[in-house]
Amino acid sequence: MLEKDIERVLISEEEIHTRVKEIGAALTKDYEGKTPLVVGVLTGAVPFLADLVRQMDLFVEMDFMDVSSYGDALVSSGEVKIIKDLDTNVAGRDLIIVEDIIDSGRTLNYLVELFKYRQANSVKIVTLLDKPEGRVVDLHADYYGFHVPNEFVVGFGLDYKQMYRNLPFVGVLKPEIYQ
Ligand code: PRP
Ligand code: MN
Ligand code: MG
Repeated sequence: MLEKDIERVLISEEEIHTRVKEIGAALTKDYEGKTPLVVGVLTGAVPFLADLVRQMDLFVEMDFMDVSSYGDALVSSGEVKIIKDLDTNVAGRDLIIVEDIIDSGRTLNYLVELFKYRQANSVKIVTLLDKPEGRVVDLHADYYGFHVPNEFVVGFGLDYKQMYRNLPFVGVLKPEIYQ
């Protein structure tokens, strides 16, 4: 049903699964002996986070944060508003922020600075997708799944008008859907 709106698949379910296993293995190794706090950024991160934590052979805690960007090009400060904060005190904790995509980098730039201010012991970024061409702030993922071109992509957490997040792959919508 959903697939009829997709022009082409960019990253298949199998490719994502393979890559998630690789990232999970890397995190398992890099965080050995620690109990990181996995921070999901609502809502896009949910499918990736759910798969990723099940590939991490570690004690982990999970918490979620919801933020929204203020406007767009009019606001150059990249200010971000907290809609839902974490329930966890992050002071002294090792944080792994999980995202579906880094585009301008504003969301994660804000969160990294916030968690440093709150005295996290370490803050790393894991993103399924990275769109380097979209970047307006200097921000790099510590772990990423795939680079994507500067196109509007949906699926595996990414939405168009809150829909298509539950597609099991990443794809490009048919133009008639958003025209
Ligand atoms: C999207 C995406 C990232 C962010 C990336 O979230 O899921 O969180 O934008 O953009 P940036 O790098 O330019 O900040 P959105 O705000 O659309 O919320 P959603 O996750 O609920 O879709
Ligand atoms: Mn998001
Ligand atoms: Mg969105």
